[in-house]
Amino acid sequence: MKVVIRENSAEGSLWAARYIAARIREKAAKTDKPFVIGLCTGSTPIETYAELIRMVKAGELSFKNVISFNMDEYVGLPESHPESYHSFMHRYLFDHIDEKPENIHILNGNAADPVAECEAYEKAIVEAGGFDLFLGGVGEDGHIAFNEPFSSLESRTRVVTLTQDTREVNARFFDGDFNQVPAQAMTVGVATVLSAREVVILAFGSKKARALKDAIEGPMSHYCTLSGLQGHPAGTIVCDENSISEVKVSSYRYFKAVEAAEGSIV
Ligand code: GLP
Repeated sequence: MKVVIRENSAEGSLWAARYIAARIREKAAKTDKPFVIGLCTGSTPIETYAELIRMVKAGELSFKNVISFNMDEYVGLPESHPESYHSFMHRYLFDHIDEKPENIHILNGNAADPVAECEAYEKAIVEAGGFDLFLGGVGEDGHIAFNEPFSSLESRTRVVTLTQDTREVNARFFDGDFNQVPAQAMTVGVATVLSAREVVILAFGSKKARALKDAIEGPMSHYCTLSGLQGHPAGTIVCDENSISEVKVSSYRYFKAVEAAEGSIV
């Protein structure tokens, strides 16, 4: 696992956007096959998306040959609800880039047959060629996508019950009303994320410090599902000084030293 530490979220987001753009261009230079990316929601990726949008508008990057799959969606929330992840993704990314509508995939949280919906999603990912890169965030308790504590590290796309904590944290998007936050979600599994050839996780701010400490220095455990990244050959956490503040000084120094020695492609 690599840990890229930047001063603040603005710099970390810039790094992530440039990194994703570099990967998309790199594949486009080699092959006509589409770049398959996993995408996340939450407040964390918004600055990264803004920079990707800027690049597309400036003609520096194109999503014409990109296929995306989002990681999760609430169950039972209408797609048109402003806080559905469908609405979020269109608001903060899809409405402003040149990705083809047919290449955008988001789980249908209102599917009549949720099990079939989840199975079809896994199948579609495989048929697209598997993920080149999965971009994720992390919950305050270390959850990745909606894989709450005690989700198997081998889990795949399925319906899950959200923890009280997650619903309370997300109540800020629902007029501060916990009861308006759906109790269930559909989410890709930990193993779905880890099936990507590369995983990039964004985590900014002191609220994520405990999650990063557990994920980076703790054991690989279903209690902190981001810790599954420890078993991935190409996992990167992009963080800032606040979110990395709980790891040991020796770990912090090591991550800085690795980046200084190996450099970065952006
Ligand atoms: C939700 C999403 C996650 C996201 C997390 C953190 O639980 N399902 O994908 O990583 O929120 O959100 P934020 O970036 O707003 O802190």
